[in-house]
Amino acid sequence: MIAYTPPFPERPLQAASALQLLLTARRNLVAIWPDSAFDRPFLTHKLLRRRLVVVNSPELVREVFVEKAEVFQRKSAQQRHALEPLIGDGLFISDGETWKGRRRAVQTVTHVSKLAELAPAMSAGAGHLLADWKGRAAGTEIDALSEMAELTAGIICASIFGQRLGARSAAAVVGAFSAYQNLIGQIDVMSLLGLPEFLPRWQGWRVGRAARKIQRVLDGLITEALDREAGEASLLRSLSASASEDGTGFDRQAIRNEAAVLFMAGHETTANTLAWAWFLLSQDGETERRLHAEVDSVLGDGPATFEDVKRLPFTRAVIEETLRLYPPVPLQAREAVADSTIGGRTVKRGDLVVLNAWTLHRHRRLWDEPDAFRPDRFMPGGGGAPSRYAYVPFSIGPRICTGAAFGLTEAVICLATLARHHRLKLRPGWVVEPTCRLSLRPGTRLPMLLEHRP
Ligand code: HEM
Repeated sequence: MIAYTPPFPERPLQAASALQLLLTARRNLVAIWPDSAFDRPFLTHKLLRRRLVVVNSPELVREVFVEKAEVFQRKSAQQRHALEPLIGDGLFISDGETWKGRRRAVQTVTHVSKLAELAPAMSAGAGHLLADWKGRAAGTEIDALSEMAELTAGIICASIFGQRLGARSAAAVVGAFSAYQNLIGQIDVMSLLGLPEFLPRWQGWRVGRAARKIQRVLDGLITEALDREAGEASLLRSLSASASEDGTGFDRQAIRNEAAVLFMAGHETTANTLAWAWFLLSQDGETERRLHAEVDSVLGDGPATFEDVKRLPFTRAVIEETLRLYPPVPLQAREAVADSTIGGRTVKRGDLVVLNAWTLHRHRRLWDEPDAFRPDRFMPGGGGAPSRYAYVPFSIGPRICTGAAFGLTEAVICLATLARHHRLKLRPGWVVEPTCRLSLRPGTRLPMLLEHRP
């Protein structure tokens, strides 16, 4: 049977000039790659004062992100400028000793061994949306992208601040964050070109004002979550305890920065994954039928639980294949902190190195039918990824996503719970275009019609 091939941007036969590249990049970071990028192990571009090196083979990914992780640990200037007003020295953009201390604590509290404690918030969030969908008329149009964003924002807030506080805080936190994201959504061309750090960035003061608003919201929540005597269990409480135990000792600012990191890194990524999964299922009837058969045989009427996840291998394979075709973070950029080499070629301090999951996950020399939607490749016996360095939706090496197990479990619980009772059909005539400015999404909205399953 011929597998379904979902949409991807046109791939020009000629590589673009540096100027064209920058102009397209501001609009869509996954539309800039020429056809040859899906065939080659290495790409390079000169951008004014800076060289851009794209590592595009498992061997080079391993060399840069694992073997030479010390040299390539620093996030790009572009990312640091965009996020520093908001997360300060938070682990997502810090490096060196600060990163090490923060990483230890955050990794401990989001570790796979903690999933049984964390999953009830996921089931509760999914159950809540399920009740809401059950109350809506068949054929109602919803924006699947924003529905998934609200769902995962609720789950991450409940996890960070505790279930009671999380339920009422999500809307305030989401509102404050989206104002900030709209401001930083534009590519910081100055940093990309390698212009000096001291030049003022446009919009700097507005970004600062939006960041301070988020910080005030977070400070209020942190005070409530940590200072109440009979406070609920939450990631914040565990984080603060874990940091004191290992002697790092977080002050309030460090706690706030890491809370902002967890929210920022931990909700839109899973939301986009779920939105893409709904879209793919709506286009591929056979995969949708198999997913329904699995969830119907495993789940009862209520939401999926942590225990159910291991009995949902096909649902998990759908999520893994979705993450291959549409990785929410398609480009992971690093700045060389010293002169070095990659694949024997010289790289200078300050050069920008990019792991390109978009091209690597669809590389013709690595994958069978690279552009086709085939969840079976992630089923037992299906072969899986050709190498652990060829499938990197959560990155790889010391900076690998600390929330990978959290995000996967959450996506499986949410998709299974909702698909047990509902299907979503794409609005007739609607065209989906994969678009990446900050993260890879199916456009700015995803209109779908809600159906009830018998
Ligand atoms: C499907 C969901 C997710 C995807 C695809 C994803 C992907 C990623 C990727 C690619 C990175 C590395 C970025 C880079 O190096 O430029 C990352 C880092 C990170 N993620 Fe996730 N993530 C997901 C969910 C989560 C969740 C749920 C959490 C928290 C509970 C989380 C917390 C983090 C943190 C703290 C980092 C920074 C790690 C470091 O720099 O040491 N992520 N994530």
